[in-house]
Amino acid sequence: MTERAAQPAPGARPAAPEATAPPAAPTRALARVHSIEDLRRLARRRLPRAIFEFIDGGAEDETTLRANRAAFERVRLLPRVLVDVSRIDPSTRLLGRIAQLPIAIAPMGAAGFARRGADQMIARAAAACGIPYTLATPANASIETIAGIADGAPRWFQIYMLPRRESMLQLIGRAAGAGYDALVVTVDLPIGGKRERDLRNDLSVPFRYTWRNVTDFARRPRWALPMLLGGIPAMENLRGIAPSAPDARGLSSSVGRGFDASFDWDAFARLRDAWRGKLVVKGLLRADDAQRAVDLGCDGIVVSNHGGRQLDGAIATLDALPAVVQAVAGRATVMLDGGVRRGVDVVKALALGADAVLIGRPVLYGAAAAGEAGAVRALEILSSELVRAMQLCGATEIAQLDRGLIAAATAAPPTTWR
Ligand code: FNR
Repeated sequence: MTERAAQPAPGARPAAPEATAPPAAPTRALARVHSIEDLRRLARRRLPRAIFEFIDGGAEDETTLRANRAAFERVRLLPRVLVDVSRIDPSTRLLGRIAQLPIAIAPMGAAGFARRGADQMIARAAAACGIPYTLATPANASIETIAGIADGAPRWFQIYMLPRRESMLQLIGRAAGAGYDALVVTVDLPIGGKRERDLRNDLSVPFRYTWRNVTDFARRPRWALPMLLGGIPAMENLRGIAPSAPDARGLSSSVGRGFDASFDWDAFARLRDAWRGKLVVKGLLRADDAQRAVDLGCDGIVVSNHGGRQLDGAIATLDALPAVVQAVAGRATVMLDGGVRRGVDVVKALALGADAVLIGRPVLYGAAAAGEAGAVRALEILSSELVRAMQLCGATEIAQLDRGLIAAATAAPPTTWR
């Protein structure tokens, strides 16, 4: 098999050379799912309000959460016509390995609250589609458990800036030992953002039962029963590391207590020395920060505002992208996340200079709605929409998604104020 596998038609699943799991059986509910928004609606019906809002929501007034989507909606394409688009190849090279789509799974902590085993389900779905999966520091599956899924599949480990450097080094050592390809350092969380939906819903870490959340959970017995029988999902990688003091002020603020607000560029540079694999920094929005990260030896950058969950008022990632791409100037892989909900969003991000996108909520809606089959469905939808959008744009391979496809007046210019 060649490195790139041409796809005959929209809707076809990309070839998955690294797949080891059999495709999950579609459920009846999934038969009527045609978009990520359909999956989101299904997830909302199945989950208690507190859990759905923990996944779906953003910080404070959620202006950045909305801005991420608005930027994708504002950018318009100038498609090329009369191109032979009978065969499309959406594969690409990401951090030294082939990915069947220019997509990777974003790290998401506490995913097991959406459905027990969601981390494993999403990891298997990613492997089946031949794309990288990122395990979050506060995941409900351990580094080793995920390493045991789909041996050889591309796997990245995300690390937060934890208060004790020995803890970070310990986790990094475990990820290296388990064969993870890349370390993704999330830098936009010196403290937790203020997520008011979590505060109102009594959602905190460590979890504490209150009248409000118990009545909320009781309204969703199909969600609550497995949680009751299996117990509250633990943050497996943080056993013995996480702060133990309960915090009544909500999940985001209590998670924030577990971070090191003093972590700076010098500390980051020391991480570069501690990790021999590919190093990715996640959570940059500025050209000068991107340049500094590349100067320190970063292999990849994720232009991210944490899906609107941290600094409310931060720029939309698609608007921040062109300046970062210009600053990086091809010296590192540039990725973007936040609000990617359609295949055409992937086209827009790549046309504006990204090498790939990360997706978070779409696969978690899928896992919440229908388990592994739901996560696979999310990826199938994005994959088939991407192939269709490429065909309609007159692009047969990823390298043809260039700035020429963007209607200039609709996108941010490549340079920003200093
Ligand atoms: C996240 N995100 C995140 N990021 C990270 O670096 N470590 C983490 O543990 C988490 N946890 C997490 C949990 C949940 C429920 C969500 C929704 C998000 C942020 C995530 O990696 C990513 O930046 C955004 O989710 C991307 O936006 P979309 O695709 O969800 O719109």
